[in-house]
Amino acid sequence: MKIRAAVLEEFGQPLVVQDVDLAGPAAGEVLVRLHACGVCHTDLYTASGADPSGYAPTVLGHEGAGIVEAVGEGVSSLAVGDHVVTLFSPQCGECIHCRSPKTNLCLAIREQQNQGYLPDGTTRLSRAGEPIRHFMGTSTFAEATVMPEIALARVSPDAALDRACLFACGLSTGLGAAMYTAKVEPGSTCAVFGAGMVGLGAVAGARLQGAERIVCVDMSDERLALARGQGATDVLKGGPEVVAQLLEMTGGFGFDYTFEATGLVKVMQQAVESARMGWGLCTVAGVAGRGETLDIIPRWLITGRRVAGSSFGGVKGRDGVPKLIDRWLAGDIDVEPFVSHALALDEVNRGFELMEAQDGIRSVLALA
Ligand SMILES: NC(=O)c1ccc[n+]([C@@H]2O[C@H](COP(=O)([O-])OP(=O)(O)OC[C@H]3O[C@@H](n4cnc5c(N)ncnc54)[C@H](O)[C@@H]3O)[C@@H](O)[C@H]2O)c1
Ligand SMILES: [Zn+2]
Ligand SMILES: [Zn+2]
Repeated sequence: MKIRAAVLEEFGQPLVVQDVDLAGPAAGEVLVRLHACGVCHTDLYTASGADPSGYAPTVLGHEGAGIVEAVGEGVSSLAVGDHVVTLFSPQCGECIHCRSPKTNLCLAIREQQNQGYLPDGTTRLSRAGEPIRHFMGTSTFAEATVMPEIALARVSPDAALDRACLFACGLSTGLGAAMYTAKVEPGSTCAVFGAGMVGLGAVAGARLQGAERIVCVDMSDERLALARGQGATDVLKGGPEVVAQLLEMTGGFGFDYTFEATGLVKVMQQAVESARMGWGLCTVAGVAGRGETLDIIPRWLITGRRVAGSSFGGVKGRDGVPKLIDRWLAGDIDVEPFVSHALALDEVNRGFELMEAQDGIRSVLALA
């Protein structure tokens, strides 16, 4: 079939929205009619050429939601008409990581996915017979996509797809960092660095876990106001003084849980240093620039602080995303403030511009 899709042709150049060919689903694959897709930093990171593992041409996009239109041979867990959220982090259910409760990093299709192929080593996307590679196993800046069954989460049909798509990346990453990676305990104190989609999700996750005090740190007053809306009890302007301020707020000890959601290694360091002596856990969700390292004085660790990294919030996608969406539908999570701009697929480059200007939290493309 012919679909409209936003293709990364050349790094550093605007995406080109055009007709491409999409083949039907092979065994174990599913054709999804996409309805909405959020525009995330990772798309821009790859489009800019900064990502050393990037490739072109490819159809970008990974924060997608849609409806199953066809299933390939052997697909048993999804049927035509199911509402789905796309997962750049699949859940095969069978690999050693899927069988462990300790991680969500499924090993099943990583190698092929990282190179832009579906699990059988080929693509369903092409143009004039020339293959176009998939991106993050999702390629959701498009009217439709073909993805492995294990990379789709079936969600409630009551969930509006132009909101549900946020759970495909940023929102689940933040919520999960607090709920699944850190497992914030009721009554605890939390400090969240960064109030973008990921940090705001972490604030909401900490609230859902019953944290007593949640301090959010950001540079933008507008975003700090959004953090209050998600449950932050205090807000602070970021900067070199912030660790001292945070320690002062906790009698010099620091916070039970800290979260970093900026991608800045200096801020990661602050998040480590404001974690509580004795048992404070710092969860790093931000993606640092190529080659950057995180500087930690070992004494911070010897005296009982711990550091954890979190990919996709530690959420095992097929099990966890439907549950997070149910909590949104139950009224526990306020998703509305995160959607700042509704754009058409043709306006995808505008979505990048808005993100660079930090205008709003998320632009969502309407695809159907
Ligand atoms: N781990 C994952 O699986 C995963 C998934 C999605 C995104 N990410 C990463 O998470 C990070 C956050 O993503 P986002 O979409 O929320 O980004 P964002 O750019 O919208 O938010 C980052 C926030 O950090 C704030 N900030 C900048 N300097 C600061 C400072 N010194 N102190 C405190 N705050 C400061 C900015 O004002 C901004 O609000 C990015 O690095 C992104 O790549 C990780
Ligand atoms: Zn993302
Ligand atoms: Zn697996």
